[in-house]
Amino acid sequence: MQSPVGPRVVFDGREFDYFAGCSYLGLQGHPEVLQAAIDAIRRYGVSTATSRGGYGEHPIYDELEQEACAYFNAEKLLYFATGYLGPAILVQAGASSFDHIFIDSDAHFSLWDAAQAVNKPVTPFHHLQPESLAEKLRLELRPGKRPLVLSDGLFPISGEIAPLPAYLELLKPYNGQVYLDDAHAVGVLGEHGWGTPEYFSLQDDRCRTCGTLSKALGGYGGVIWGEAGWAERVDRSSRIYAGASPPPLVAAAASAKALEIARTSADLRPRLWTNVKRARDGLRALGWALPPSNTPAPIICLESRYDVSIERIRAGLFRQGIAVELVRHYTSTPPGGALRIAVFAAHTSEQIDRLVEGIKELV
Ligand SMILES: Cc1ncc(COP(=O)(O)O)c(C=O)c1O
Repeated sequence: MQSPVGPRVVFDGREFDYFAGCSYLGLQGHPEVLQAAIDAIRRYGVSTATSRGGYGEHPIYDELEQEACAYFNAEKLLYFATGYLGPAILVQAGASSFDHIFIDSDAHFSLWDAAQAVNKPVTPFHHLQPESLAEKLRLELRPGKRPLVLSDGLFPISGEIAPLPAYLELLKPYNGQVYLDDAHAVGVLGEHGWGTPEYFSLQDDRCRTCGTLSKALGGYGGVIWGEAGWAERVDRSSRIYAGASPPPLVAAAASAKALEIARTSADLRPRLWTNVKRARDGLRALGWALPPSNTPAPIICLESRYDVSIERIRAGLFRQGIAVELVRHYTSTPPGGALRIAVFAAHTSEQIDRLVEGIKELV
């Protein structure tokens, strides 16, 4: 890639319509975001070269945290090196509050690694299936022990949304909790873009989420947010959080600006949903079974079909100057692989129509 990420990108000197990656709100190349990064690097350099909690405290991190708390309507926020570490930080910090981990079999790598961050039994259940979770709880959880369920909120390749209300209902008699990796959902799902719990209108402290600023929210770095007392306990009890350098100042400054734009631009997410609907309706008409058009996930997953070669579609689109991803080995990829199409708020209707027409010609 030889340009900022956006609805048009340059690969190898040639321009493409870009329907890949995760820039769902299209903020990574926003001029104000770039300017914030430039100002920060001129004034403060790249990083503090020490961890937070001492001389590493910095007004740029304060600004980031204030913006992020305003975005998520939270009292306190933890900001760390990558979204990948979020589940491990949650699991490590919450380790005394559960005894047995139950994990969606297609959960992201970050969640599987998090499950290894503590010494507790781990039992997978069938992808997105509350019935399977119920069975595993009945068969595997010893009496009096407390379960923790780990899952993505919005799955990165399939674009499916975890049935969070059903999980929480099942966990009630066991005094259990859910930790969600909401990396693809923050900025996108829910009225304010707070992620999967908001999408289901849930406010329940038995469910904790972590997210990233590196995808929809246009910046960089992992985030966990919540009430001050709880977030301070996470801060104190996760070795990963305490022991790693925070993201570089330049990333924090860009992220703060991107969050401000995401929070104050009322038209961004409606534009995204209009685009998602247009793309999904067009692609459904070509014979793929896709979720209902009002599902706001900006990831459209075209599974391989006996009558269609997804390799041929990816290569044919690329020749036409349209980039989509062919995925075979990533969590939540359906058997046989898939074309992953990422829709952005910044795509034009013409770009979406060109994509649908391009696929139609190749099917
Ligand atoms: C579900 C999921 N969680 C976490 C991550 C990692 O987030 P980050 O890029 O901020 O480390 C990714 C991918 O990048 C992801 O797909």
